[in-house]
Amino acid sequence: MVHVSEREEQLPDQVIEKLIEIMVEHPDVLSLGPGEPDFPLPKPLVSEVKRLSNQANHYSPAGGLHELREAICRKVRRDNHIKASPHNIVVTCGAQEALLLSAACTLDVSEQILLPNPGFMGFLPCFELFNAGIRFYDLKEERAFEPDPDEIKKQVDSRKTKVILLNSPANPTGNVISKKVLEEIADIAVEYNLSIFSDEAYEKIVYDDAKHVSIGSLNGMADRVFTCQSFSKSFAMCGFRLGYVVAPDKVAEAIKKTHIYTSICAPTISQKLGIKALSLSSKYTQAMVKEYDKRRKVIVPRLNQMGLSTPNPKGAFYTFSNISHINTSSKRFAFDLLKKQKVAVIPGVDFGSEGEGYIRCSFAAKLQTIEKALDKIEKYLTYSESR
Ligand SMILES: Cc1ncc(COP(=O)(O)O)c(C=O)c1O
Repeated sequence: MVHVSEREEQLPDQVIEKLIEIMVEHPDVLSLGPGEPDFPLPKPLVSEVKRLSNQANHYSPAGGLHELREAICRKVRRDNHIKASPHNIVVTCGAQEALLLSAACTLDVSEQILLPNPGFMGFLPCFELFNAGIRFYDLKEERAFEPDPDEIKKQVDSRKTKVILLNSPANPTGNVISKKVLEEIADIAVEYNLSIFSDEAYEKIVYDDAKHVSIGSLNGMADRVFTCQSFSKSFAMCGFRLGYVVAPDKVAEAIKKTHIYTSICAPTISQKLGIKALSLSSKYTQAMVKEYDKRRKVIVPRLNQMGLSTPNPKGAFYTFSNISHINTSSKRFAFDLLKKQKVAVIPGVDFGSEGEGYIRCSFAAKLQTIEKALDKIEKYLTYSESR
């Protein structure tokens, strides 16, 4: 008989998986579910993929192609103000693998990591795989889901806590952490000798006057911060599985070594495409951000008008709306909305206990789809209230 490991059994089942199955089977569903850009690959990358198709059948070094690491170095120095050298960079299969490798190389069994609650659904299982101790710091709507340094400090156990995970711009809340708060968190990291995993997968998707600041750029942080970046959102390259971690000197080699035992290297064709992507003008990413912003300006006021309190996201492409006045769980709300109005949203509880009472809508969907879905959500709410 095949045996499924206890560790695997304990990984959470996610509603998002079920929703994706339903959406595939029912193409008439209006989906505000996806966590990936709805845009095609930027045109110069399409021709580059064709050009590369016969040039990438070999493994690369575990840390990544040297030319790509050099290009990443220039990018993080210019855009993120992080003083890295190529030996600090490990190219990975997306930001998700960057986090996983960082965890593998820093956390021993039961050592603690602090995670945001609500937070991206990929976080918790990733660290549970290493039997890390998990503690949460809560994000509150009153603070527009900005982390509260006092709350983080409260959760630190000076004997067990080793890492604080930050995610800015944030999934699912759309918050962008201010420089002031990052500085306060940096002080906590120094006081308790902690590392920081900084998930910046959405770094380029910010709105209005919000500014993305990399905590790895702050004074004294180079030896503590693992900056995890991605090509998925900035270049609509999710399927190419490309990201990287900028790691402190001491652990970069360990991460490279561990990479050999997870995926050997990121796909060579994706790495070569990454070199091209980093050479592109920023206009390709900016065009996507402009389009997200147009949609944001439609979706946020409409959700608020319907009585679902929704802070204006400063980054990423999600709204996080309060449904707690409706007498139901976020899971039941999502499934009932799907059944009755054929609109898919993600229940907040999928992002952690503090997400209960909320739903996440993605505006990585065509404006027409968003508008139709909003009409149907409104109809659903009107019907629910009249019962
Ligand atoms: C916050 C966050 N981090 C990481 C990832 C995974 O990104 P990648 O495709 O680079 O692995 C996602 C994907 O949605 C995300 O939302």
